[in-house]
Amino acid sequence: MRKGIENMKIVLNHKCNLTKNEFLAYQQAFAKIKTAHDIVMCPSSLYLPLFHLENISLGSQDVSTYEMGAHTGEISASQLKEMNVEYTIVGHSERRSDFDEKDNDIKEKIAKLLAQGITPILCVGETSKEREKGERIEVIKRQLSILSSFDTKKIIIAYEPVWAIGTGLVPTVEELDEVLTSIHFSYPESLLLYGGSASDENIEYLKTSQEIDGYLLGGLSLKLEKLQVFLDLC
Ligand code: 13P
Repeated sequence: MRKGIENMKIVLNHKCNLTKNEFLAYQQAFAKIKTAHDIVMCPSSLYLPLFHLENISLGSQDVSTYEMGAHTGEISASQLKEMNVEYTIVGHSERRSDFDEKDNDIKEKIAKLLAQGITPILCVGETSKEREKGERIEVIKRQLSILSSFDTKKIIIAYEPVWAIGTGLVPTVEELDEVLTSIHFSYPESLLLYGGSASDENIEYLKTSQEIDGYLLGGLSLKLEKLQVFLDLC
């Protein structure tokens, strides 16, 4: 964690998990979690109106590039705003790969969110192929170049190496520090999260990096006992 930052920002990405009843039970159990860290919960958008946890911020997993109007199936930034959404994940690798989202789409989403006063959490990260070819820094710089026209202190950046998501693999602290230092150098005002198989088992290792301001958690966000251990340790 960088100097001057008191609490970690912990973002919970539920992805496409939990039925309605499971989400309600999860919320009830979550109310017992104790932590001083800042938590942002990003459930399925279906459950945004059901969210009622105190001292936890609400986030969404995506937003439309469009304003209101004839865009079937989309959810706009102004609709999210009225559901009390304060943060939105954009550019997650699953959206880039499964829905062919391009940097320009992501830029548009960030513009729509900022116009509503919602904080974008921009995910960047290299694939295993790009890592093997030594293109890591270049890929991340390209993904971040869409930020040039925005006030970056209003944007959170999440470094999520694609090969680390859901695999149990994490970068070495040297690899992490190389990437995170380079991001911090160009975007010193943005909070910087790490995501990709972060867990109660590797948090002691990950936190030896001085550059991580928080974590973006997928699988661990659904396992509350382990999450509590993680929060106690980080
Ligand atoms: P895992 O923590 O399950 O690897 O997922 C990370 C992620 O994609 C969070 O957005």
